[in-house]
Amino acid sequence: MDVDITLRVDGAEHRLTVDTRTTLLDALCERLGNTSPKKGCDHGQCGACTVLLDGERALSCLALAVAHQGAEVVTAAGLADGEELHPLQRAFIEHDAFQCGYCTPGQIVSAVGMLAEADSGWPSAVAEDITAGKVTLDDREIAERMSGNLCRCAAYVNIRPAISEVAR
Ligand code: FES
Ligand code: FES
Repeated sequence: MDVDITLRVDGAEHRLTVDTRTTLLDALCERLGNTSPKKGCDHGQCGACTVLLDGERALSCLALAVAHQGAEVVTAAGLADGEELHPLQRAFIEHDAFQCGYCTPGQIVSAVGMLAEADSGWPSAVAEDITAGKVTLDDREIAERMSGNLCRCAAYVNIRPAISEVAR
């Protein structure tokens, strides 16, 4: 069954007709030609398809496009302000935090969402005190909070310092 939906992606509104089984990832990549979110596993295991969905990070391969009618979607391509890169994009370049780059858009978007979560006091699985509210993003916290984003090139040794610098 086909359904008409509207998505706002990286600030631009799009109207499209999708089969109700279409994932948000396929709608973005195949229908709207957005090459930022990547299909790594298509099973919610790698994080390469991460986008911000109404401000929170989400795996677009596990989301049905039809369930997000009217949603505000931000991909890594929409993070820059004109020519001005987002601080995390700059930090990833400065720290050489990638090799092949396939996981990178998902890593960066996920880090944006993660920093906002930490800022709001969301605890993680390694938090000593889940009622503390204030989160100190040390390496352990960053590793845990970014554990949904895998890097097959194992660039973690540079990804973590890049995120840490922006967190500071
Ligand atoms: S492609 Fe979505 S989690 Fe791997
Ligand atoms: S840089 Fe290649 S998968 Fe992460």
